[in-house]
Amino acid sequence: MKEIFPTPPPLVHNQFEAVRKLFSKNVVPSYGRFDLALDHGAGSYVFDVAGKRYLDLGGGIAVNCLGHAHPAITDALVEQSKKLIHVSNLYFTEPQGRLAAEIVKRIGAGKVFFSNSGAEANEGLFKLARKFGHDEGRFEILTATNSFHGRTLAGIAATGQDKVKKGFEPMTPGFRHITFNDLAAARNAISPATVAIMIEGVQGEGGVTPATPEYLLGLRALCDEKKLLLLMDGVQCGHYRTGKFQSFQRILEDVAQASRLPQIKGAAGETPALLSFLPDGLSMAKSLGGGFPIGAFWVRTPFADLLGPGTHATTFGGTPLACAVALKILEVIAKEKLDENARKLGDWTLNELQRLAKSYPGVVKNARGFGFMLGLELFEKEKIPALAASDKSTAIQFTNQMHTAGVLVIPAGTQVIRLLPPLNLKPQEAAEGIFKIEEVVKSLA
Ligand SMILES: Cc1ncc(COP(=O)(O)O)c(C=O)c1O
Repeated sequence: MKEIFPTPPPLVHNQFEAVRKLFSKNVVPSYGRFDLALDHGAGSYVFDVAGKRYLDLGGGIAVNCLGHAHPAITDALVEQSKKLIHVSNLYFTEPQGRLAAEIVKRIGAGKVFFSNSGAEANEGLFKLARKFGHDEGRFEILTATNSFHGRTLAGIAATGQDKVKKGFEPMTPGFRHITFNDLAAARNAISPATVAIMIEGVQGEGGVTPATPEYLLGLRALCDEKKLLLLMDGVQCGHYRTGKFQSFQRILEDVAQASRLPQIKGAAGETPALLSFLPDGLSMAKSLGGGFPIGAFWVRTPFADLLGPGTHATTFGGTPLACAVALKILEVIAKEKLDENARKLGDWTLNELQRLAKSYPGVVKNARGFGFMLGLELFEKEKIPALAASDKSTAIQFTNQMHTAGVLVIPAGTQVIRLLPPLNLKPQEAAEGIFKIEEVVKSLA
C-alpha cells in the first residue's frame, strides 16, 4: 500500500496507546470512543493498528455502503480528482446535475440541494420550512421523541432526546416534540405557528424503531389538511439500507400491494415508487458518499423553487468529486443488485436475531428493523447478572465484548445494538456475525 502521508515513527504506526495519547493531547474529547485505533480496511473487514481483524457490521454508522477500500470508489476518486475536484457553486458542473437527476428518479418529481453532512441537509429542510411559512408567520417544526437530526444548534433543538441538548440551552426556538407513531399526538400538537412535521422513517439513534404505515399515511393526510410540509430524515435509514432507496418505500410497499395503489417503475427499472405517498422534503447523507462526505436534500416539485438564488448555499456542496463518487456508488448498487442483497440477507439476519431473542430470553428482549438496519434490544444491565456490576450500560458492555470477539457493532441508547453493515455484505459474513453475536449472548445467559 502506498503511504499517503510521510511515514510516522513506528510507535504511532503500530501502537494503540501512542495513538490514544495523540488524541488525549490534541483532539477535542467530544466523542466517547472505544479502545480501538483502526488502521485500514478491505470489504466488510477493518484492521486495528495491531493488525487484529474485525467484521464491520457497523459500517461507520450506516456510511460504508460498499465496505472498505472498494475499487470503484477509489477509481472514481482518482479519476475525478485528476479532472476537477472543486469549483464554486457559482458555476454548473455535470456530476452535480447528473446526481440530482438520479436522486429525483428514485424518489419522485422534485429538485435536490447538496450539502456536506446529514445535519446540514436537515438545516436546509428547516430553512425550506421557514421560507414556506414565512409570510403567514408560521415557523414551528414538530419532530418526534427519540428522534435524532444532527448536532448543529438547530439539529439538537430538533432532536427529541434531552441528552444532546443538555448544556447548550437556550435551544434554538421553533421546535417541539411529539410522540413517535402517535397520530393523535401530532394532530393535537399543531398550533397556528406550525409549518412542518419532520420524522425519520426508521429512527436510528433512538434504537431502530420504524414508523408504521398508518403513521406515515396519516401524517401525509394531516399535513395536507393543515397545509404543513411533511419532512423526512433519511440520513441513516436511506440509500437502500432497508432494501428500498428510501425507508418509506419499504414501509409502505405491503400497503401498496394490499390496496393495489398505483405504482410506477423508476426509470432505471430498479425502484418502484409509490405514487400516492411522497414526503415534501427528504434529507440524506451517510451512505450517499460511501464514506466520502456528502449530504443532500430532495424537495418535492411544488416547493422545489422556494429556496431561490441567494437564499441558501454552502461552499463544498455537491463538488464534482463528491458527486462522481456518489454516482459511482449508485451504479454499483444497481449493477450488483445490492438493494436485494440488503433485503434478503438483512431479513435472514433479522430472523437469526429473533431466534436469539427466543433462545436467550434472559438477555435479548427483541430484534427489529428492515434489511441492513437492524436493532437487537437487550435487557437493562441490572437484569443481566454478568453486566450488573459495571457502571457502563448494557449496550456499551456488549459492544466491548463484540470487539473482543472481532466484530464492530453500534450501540444505540443504553440497551440496543445496531447492525448497519455494508450493502454488499456476503452471506458467510452475516453468518460469522450471527455466530459471534450468539457467542457473546450465550456467555451472558
Ligand atoms: C437520522 C439522522 N439524521 C441526521 C444525522 C446527522 O448526520 P451528520 O452526522 O452527517 O451530520 C444523523 C447522524 O447520525 C442521523 O442518524
